[in-house]
Amino acid sequence: MTGKNGQLGSELMGIQMSYPGYRFVFLDRKDLDLSTLEGLSGLFEQYQPAFFVNAGAYTAVDKAESDKELAMSVNGIAPGKIAAICKQFGTKLIHVSTDYVFDGNGEYPYLPDHPTSPVNYYGQSKLQGEQAAMEANNASIIIRTAWVYSAYGNNFVKTMLRLMNERPSIGVVSDQFGAPTYARDLAIAIMDIIEKGAGHYGIYHFSNEGKITWWDFAVAIKEIAGLNCQVNPISTADFPTPAKRPAYSVLDKDKLKKDYDVQPRDWKAALKECMGYLERI
Ligand SMILES: NC(=O)c1ccc[n+]([C@@H]2O[C@H](COP(=O)([O-])OP(=O)(O)OC[C@H]3O[C@@H](n4cnc5c(N)ncnc54)[C@H](OP(=O)(O)O)[C@@H]3O)[C@@H](O)[C@H]2O)c1
Repeated sequence: MTGKNGQLGSELMGIQMSYPGYRFVFLDRKDLDLSTLEGLSGLFEQYQPAFFVNAGAYTAVDKAESDKELAMSVNGIAPGKIAAICKQFGTKLIHVSTDYVFDGNGEYPYLPDHPTSPVNYYGQSKLQGEQAAMEANNASIIIRTAWVYSAYGNNFVKTMLRLMNERPSIGVVSDQFGAPTYARDLAIAIMDIIEKGAGHYGIYHFSNEGKITWWDFAVAIKEIAGLNCQVNPISTADFPTPAKRPAYSVLDKDKLKKDYDVQPRDWKAALKECMGYLERI
């Protein structure tokens, strides 16, 4: 599994004890640099993995607009090379992608086969990675996810908690719709797929259930934490960022539910669990 120190990688590490039948190998940037993939075939020869989870990625969405070469090598090129070596070794690839492959003009949850049209370079690089992986090995599993948070790393939940503790009021965008993903729930979904043999291929969607805005998300964080900060709704135009964001990116998860019987829980229940965990650490 790549991305050992990322949100998803950390959650996968955290749940590994619940799956004693597997030997997990977690790779960080030192073990495998996704921008060069130096040593990739040696790792496959050494471990002969049954599954390869690519949880590592260039995730700095705004920085990707100016750091294109690195973003493309990690997100756009590496997945194809990993998929090719997986094919060679008979390894099942589970690669993680993003809702940002869509332009956000939709009004209904996006199906996995909905036409893609990324509005930022990160999304473009991730889309290229999906296509490269599928071209190299169409028996790959690609899971698109969205709005990922966890007790680890930097994410919206932790940023909001910090700002709400520092300031009497904050403004949060209220015209972008999506559904958050607790990285622990995604990690469990990935292990579910592995336990079920990873025999269905193609593109899947996973997030927690719901349709909310970042403002709704922030208000829920405030309420669960019992903070007094005033959370004001603002528009995307009031909060300019180097990379454009899709206005709507709710993902339809039915294919994952049907093929793998993965049942994502409600976004707020997942948020409460994560925040309870954050309080204890
Ligand atoms: N975060 C989100 O909101 C979000 C939304 C949609 C989809 N996704 C997708 O979900 C997956 C997991 O995301 P996440 O939130 O867990 O990301 P994350 O916390 O940013 O972690 C990304 C990991 O990738 C590693 N990485 C970056 N460049 C690398 C390189 N050149 N070589 C090796 N490792 C490298 C990082 O290593 P270092 O620790 O050394 O930096 C980090 O461990 C990614 O595919 C991402 O695109 C995320």
